[in-house]
Amino acid sequence: MGEVGLKDRFGRIISYLRVSVTDRCNLRCRYCMPPEGIELISHEEILRYEELTTILKIFVGLGLKRVRFTGGEPLVREGFVSFLKRVREKFPALGISLTTNGILLKKFREELSSIALDSLNISLDTLDPEKYRCITRLGKIEDVWEGIHAFLNGKTRLKLNVVAIKGFNDDEVLKFVELTKRFNLIVRFIEFMPVNTVVWKEGDFLSIVEIKEIIEKKYLLKECGYENGAGPAKYYTLPWGGKIGFIGAVSQHFCENCNRIRLTADGRLRTCLFGGPELDVKKLIRSGLREGEVSILIRDILQHKPKNRFEIAFKEDSYMSRIGG
Ligand code: 5AD
Ligand code: SF4
Repeated sequence: MGEVGLKDRFGRIISYLRVSVTDRCNLRCRYCMPPEGIELISHEEILRYEELTTILKIFVGLGLKRVRFTGGEPLVREGFVSFLKRVREKFPALGISLTTNGILLKKFREELSSIALDSLNISLDTLDPEKYRCITRLGKIEDVWEGIHAFLNGKTRLKLNVVAIKGFNDDEVLKFVELTKRFNLIVRFIEFMPVNTVVWKEGDFLSIVEIKEIIEKKYLLKECGYENGAGPAKYYTLPWGGKIGFIGAVSQHFCENCNRIRLTADGRLRTCLFGGPELDVKKLIRSGLREGEVSILIRDILQHKPKNRFEIAFKEDSYMSRIGG
């Protein structure tokens, strides 16, 4: 069983878990949250680190290969880096990655470097300090750059995630691409998803086709495949060997290759980013169910992972900081 991994009813092998460790964030990105922030999950409802470890153990038993921790902003949660260290020690074969807005990276640089994460994704939607302050409402871009520099020459694979927004950063596409000349990192452009239709406006949408056109007017792009053969990002190399990726979160139909499942900060297993059936794993664990029993229920819920996102109605009240991106 462990060797085959978790297979759903459409034959997709689920080997990748994204875990939101907190819904809290030290930024208030305009496309993610209203200015006052969102109603936060109470502390008792957040999965404790021991509970998370139990869930990871169950998943590893089911064939999990990679875990990515996200938020909100994972680094704002107390004890998170020590937790990461324990996860690394307990599950040495598990690929461990982190998605962060980068603000606190410099603070944790030493501890994080000692963990040697497999990959570090940093969200950065503009290179302009003023625009950065404007879109994040609170952030200082210098903090992010200090964080990036701290990890540039380490073992961890660095990726910059750029949410493409029309009229906001379409004029910076080439600047982002050219970062790969100077730095050993991958730049990935992500289509702005209508996760929350209150925040998302159709006119803001910039497709990866449009972004690619902007780049190809100046540089020749050579296709070099998908991440891990199946992930949502499609990669290209540039004439100087730099690498960029496109995540057609809206325009492309990668649901049939989807290898992932999500765990929300309050302990619900979510079978699809956009919704679909959920399993309240925290409730199961807190009610005293044994690991073996939880494991069976996890296998069951995966059988109900939606075939694709068109099967799901959007929820108006969904926020990325709750689901974990
Ligand atoms: N569409 C696309 N990406 C989004 N993110 C947050 N909200 C959206 C959205 N509506 C991104 C963040 C971060 C990642 C976790 O998700 O910028 O890079
Ligand atoms: Fe925080 Fe990420 Fe949302 Fe920005 S997009 S407010 S960094 S959770």
